[in-house]
Amino acid sequence: MTDPAARTASIRHARHLRGTLRLPGDKSITHRALILAAIAEGESRIRDGSDGLDCNSTAGALAALGVRIERRGSAEGGRVDRLVRSPGRGGWSEPAGVLDAGNSGTTLRLLAGVLAGTPLRAVIDGDDSLRRRPVARIIEPLRRMGATVHARAADTLPPLTVEGRSPLEAIVHRPTVPSAQVKSAILLAGLSARGTVEVREAVATRDHTERMLRDRGVDVTSFEDGDWVVRMEGGATVQPRDERVPGDVSAAAFWLVAGAAHPDAELTLEGVGLNPTRRAVVELLRRMGAEIRVEPLATDASEPVGTLTVSSSRLRAIEVDAADVARAIDEIPALCLAAACAEGTTRIHGAGELRNKESDRIAGIADGLSALGARVAVEGDDLAIEGRAGVPGFGLVGAPVRTLGDHRLAMTFAVAGLLAEGETTLDDAASAAVSYPGFFRDLERVSA
Ligand code: S3P
Repeated sequence: MTDPAARTASIRHARHLRGTLRLPGDKSITHRALILAAIAEGESRIRDGSDGLDCNSTAGALAALGVRIERRGSAEGGRVDRLVRSPGRGGWSEPAGVLDAGNSGTTLRLLAGVLAGTPLRAVIDGDDSLRRRPVARIIEPLRRMGATVHARAADTLPPLTVEGRSPLEAIVHRPTVPSAQVKSAILLAGLSARGTVEVREAVATRDHTERMLRDRGVDVTSFEDGDWVVRMEGGATVQPRDERVPGDVSAAAFWLVAGAAHPDAELTLEGVGLNPTRRAVVELLRRMGAEIRVEPLATDASEPVGTLTVSSSRLRAIEVDAADVARAIDEIPALCLAAACAEGTTRIHGAGELRNKESDRIAGIADGLSALGARVAVEGDDLAIEGRAGVPGFGLVGAPVRTLGDHRLAMTFAVAGLLAEGETTLDDAASAAVSYPGFFRDLERVSA
């Protein structure tokens, strides 16, 4: 089905989908576990962390700052155990070269936050996609805190230069776009701040940073007073801690859509992270009529975890508002595919932030699904997808599709290929390894 030597992949219609999968470690949690282990002095073990390229970029950048990160045992299914030994942030060394964030916006923005409060100079750069990701949203608050931060194109695009300082000033920040990366950058910088740092969001974004800081001894409170507020006492010490990383719900999303849309499917996804700020995709798919069973698991992970079972369902169109988009930001491409298989027209409102991801995901999803025969209209920042339930293959017919080198588009179109009649060819499927290294192996397993 895939040629490992090539970047392209061909996917044929699957007659049925069956199987049980264990997903890669959650990407967001793994980045944070690595960064917090590096800030703390001592040893931290990270079990079942993501072995995707993005998290390996974070590990590589931290190693360049003098943190020792050893992989333990053999990596399997996109999960790897790591032992992190750090002298503590105060013992980091100035990196000799540019820190390479690769394709990873989370590496770029979270590290910029930590480095803002660390008296070193560093330059963070990445691939062509990363060089198109906006950074003004972190430069402005980090400068207000007292760090010296510069970027290309009038301080809007990477590479990013950070000259850190400690202590920083505490600020109250109200991000203009809902972004967990911006919130996290400010909290991580806030570890070096004098006083109380506050981030006020209009929509609650993923809260892994807050939970993990709390678990490591930092005084962080979260509450709602019209805004979603996170308040942290600055000048805090982060304690080392072992972490077991749950399966990535954003990776689960592809299989939830595949299993719900395919007429002969049952898929079980074990050990998936079900943090309330991450599982909107499950709720949105259920609103569409997807049959998804959730069995909560008791584990030693610090986040809620469960097993998800999805089976063939009759999907119907829904309205997705801007708050839903923010809560399911990474799962919207997969959700668009579900919409193409549903009865009626799904409208997705206020999705503009999708243009700032690894690619312009509004254009990418519209072009790719249209190439396969779906009916997708883009109106400004809104998408309208006319589903074709009842038509064989949902009216999807295999064709060459462009993934724009974007992992989530590649995996969405691969799943579309399982539903479509005939053969679908992806120009670049290798990007799946950014978050889900074993994706095509799992695809072969469930469709065999
Ligand atoms: C992430 C936050 C989101 C998301 C990204 C991971 C994180 O980005 O799209 O994949 O780990 O904090 P934004 O904060 O820019 O929305």
